[in-house]
Formats: sequence, C-alpha cells, structure tokens
Amino acid sequence: MNRRKFLQLGGVTLGAALLSATGLTSACTPQPEPVEIDWIDTSYGESTMNNGKILVAYASSTGSTVGVAEAIGKKLAESGAAVDVKPVKDVSDLSVYRALVIGSAIHGGQWLPEAVKFVQDHKTELTHVPTAFFMVCLTVLKDDEQSRTFVGEFLKDVRAVVKPVAEGRFAGAYLPEKYDFWTRFGMKFFAGYLKIKPGDYRNWEAINAWAEKTSLLLA
Ligand SMILES: Cc1cc2nc3c(=O)[nH]c(=O)nc-3n(C[C@H](O)[C@H](O)[C@H](O)COP(=O)(O)O)c2cc1C
Repeated sequence: MNRRKFLQLGGVTLGAALLSATGLTSACTPQPEPVEIDWIDTSYGESTMNNGKILVAYASSTGSTVGVAEAIGKKLAESGAAVDVKPVKDVSDLSVYRALVIGSAIHGGQWLPEAVKFVQDHKTELTHVPTAFFMVCLTVLKDDEQSRTFVGEFLKDVRAVVKPVAEGRFAGAYLPEKYDFWTRFGMKFFAGYLKIKPGDYRNWEAINAWAEKTSLLLA
C-alpha cells in the first residue's frame, strides 16, 4: 500500500471511528431535542397492471433520505406502478406489495439500525419479491476506486440477508445545524477528509435515473 492510500484509509477509518464514537458519547451526554423531520407517508400513481403495489420504505436521521425516497416513489409511479412511500418504522404488513425499495441514511458505515432490523424482520417476505436497496451518504462524493469499494461495504450486512435486484448509492446532505455537539465534532473531521462544506449534495438527476432503470427490475 502506498503512502497516499494509507492516508486515505486512515482518514476514512478516523471519520468512521469518530462517527461511531458519536453514538457512544451521545449515550452519556445530555441530548438536544431530536431533529424535526417532515416524514412522508403517502401514495403515488395507480396500478395499471392490477397486480399489487410497490413499497418504498426508508430510514432517515436528519431528513435528506426522505426526499430521496419521495423522488424514487414518484418516478416509479410514472412508470405505471401504484407506490406507497413510508418510513420503515411505520410498516408492518408487506402482503399487499409486489416489490420493495428499501433505503436508509448511512451512519458509521452502515444503514440506520431500524432499516437493518426491517430487512431482518421481513427476510422471508423479501426473498419472495423483487427488492432493491439504496443508501444516502457522503462518502460517495469521493469518486475514486478505493472509496467506491469502501462504499460497497456499507450494505454488506443487509445484502447478506436479502440479495437485492439493484443498489442505489446517492449523495446526501451535510447539515451541521441539525447535529448535536459530538456529531458536529465527528462530522467536521469527516467533512475535512471528504473536502466538503455544509450543504445538500443530493443529485436528483442520478436518483431519478436510478429509479427509472430500477422500475424495470421490479416489474
Ligand atoms: C452520526 C452520523 C454518521 C454518519 N456516518 C457516515 C458514514 O459512515 N459514511 C458516510 O458516507 N456518511 C455518513 N454520514 C453522512 C450521512 O449519511 C448523510 O448526511 C446523509 O445525507 C444523512 O441522511 P439523513 O439526512 O436522511 O439522515 C453520517 C452522518 C451522521 C449525522
């Protein structure tokens, strides 16, 4: 491994460690009010095939994944499907769905726990219907081979439970004003490594293109 790769890996590892530590430290630090999120629980389109609906189920911590799930839901509906878009925490019955798209923000190198649990809890149903996964994170902004490989590992655990028909990797948002003190601290290092400033990096064109392509695999 050359020096550059060593430093790169060090940066990613440090960032991930700080972000995981955020979870630990927040357990012993007085926490501010949870971030207000405009959760979307809605439906789009009408099925022209009369063969069930598609569910887009998502998990988010600061809200950017909500918009991504919404955009995917709208795009799938444009392809003729009836689509429900719901937070994973509000879904219990999957029997009415003929296909699923499940996505989450990435924290500490993996989906949020409620999204992982959702896949584990519904493993049996999910293996019988086409299921696509997506992630929303910031490492995708680093467009080199090593980072791409690293990002591929983020879905390792859920991929081992259910094999998805497609995987979407989308850039999210860096929103320090929504983080508590320790998260802001950890994220500052991480953002320094990624060389990004606070902002919304969601790429709607890429999200829509993925949804359009994926709709064919969910048919
Ligand atoms: C506590 C915390 C940990 C994070 N960990 C990672 C990470 O390991 N890798 C990454 O690429 N992005 C990481 N991010 C960035 C988020 O994935 C990104 O901000 C995403 O847009 C968040 O989605 P949300 O707004 O739906 O919660 C982290 C963000 C936070 C707040």
